[in-house]
Amino acid sequence: MRVLPKANEQCWCGSGKKFKRCHRLATTPVKPGKISSLRPIPDSIAKPSWADGGRLERWDEPRVKSPDVIERMRRTGRDAADTLAMLGALCQPGVTTEAIDVACHDEAVRRGAYPSPLEYPGGSGAPPYPKSLCTSVNEVICHGIPDDRPLVDGDIVNLDVTLYKEGVHGDTNATFYVGQVDEESKRLVTVTRDCLLRGIEAAKPGRRFNEIGRAIQDHAEGHGFGVVRDFVGHGIGEQFHTDLQICHYYRPGQTDVIEPGMTFTIEPMITAGTWEPRMWSDGWTAVTADRGRTAQFEHTILITDDGAEILTTPGDTATHPFWTL
Ligand code: MF3
Ligand code: CO
Ligand code: CO
Repeated sequence: MRVLPKANEQCWCGSGKKFKRCHRLATTPVKPGKISSLRPIPDSIAKPSWADGGRLERWDEPRVKSPDVIERMRRTGRDAADTLAMLGALCQPGVTTEAIDVACHDEAVRRGAYPSPLEYPGGSGAPPYPKSLCTSVNEVICHGIPDDRPLVDGDIVNLDVTLYKEGVHGDTNATFYVGQVDEESKRLVTVTRDCLLRGIEAAKPGRRFNEIGRAIQDHAEGHGFGVVRDFVGHGIGEQFHTDLQICHYYRPGQTDVIEPGMTFTIEPMITAGTWEPRMWSDGWTAVTADRGRTAQFEHTILITDDGAEILTTPGDTATHPFWTL
């Protein structure tokens, strides 16, 4: 295990610079940009309750899904994964996060799906989410709102796609490289991908849910990285987020057991420095408190009789970073 220096200690690389100015690599801080107006969804698309100014409906959804719901989740999951892989090709220097959002929005509609984030209600006084995609650059942990900031050579950007189609949601994300990315950021991204893989491998029927977080935390901290606590994976199906919470760190008290037929997300957010977040005043964007970089990968999975099936598997895994990094 590699122990990283504290922010103000000398970098391990021998440059003589402070760690936070060298391999912590928080480059130029990301600042809030201009957010364009709401892009409509045609009435021909089936919409969740929160679309068009509606409220979030909540009901008691069974954790173990019917074969019919599972079949639909496989199809919607694939649509989300294919959309994510397509959007990855747009992560180039000079492309704004807004342009990637528009591509996501239009691809969702082309596939007959509603982009689930659009108008999703916020917690504690936050306005509804104004875009169809979450774009989280560098030190943004999650829920970055697409705006007029062009991607810069050396950035890492997470795209989080959720689609609603056939009455069910598919939720998946990946972190992409923009141009030439430094080795330390690449290490952060590949370790994060491996954290998701290890979390999925720990998700087996008969085991406790907290084994997922234990596997993820062991791997991340073994590489000197932090695990975000304030955002968790979640049950998913006919609702975007159900009450089921999947922690990405070890919580000894979570003793409930994983069962075949359950569907939920695993979506570890891993940090180069501190895992503690700060919120922007937009009510959505979470950044690391020290502005160190952070990466995330997410899949929606189904628990099978002997393991887990990734429902957000694209038709072509050869163009998807989870399978190719
Ligand atoms: N896709 C995110 C998740 O993994 C949720 C985004 S909600 C939004 O749970 F409103 F911010 F889009
Ligand atoms: Co999710
Ligand atoms: Co997501």
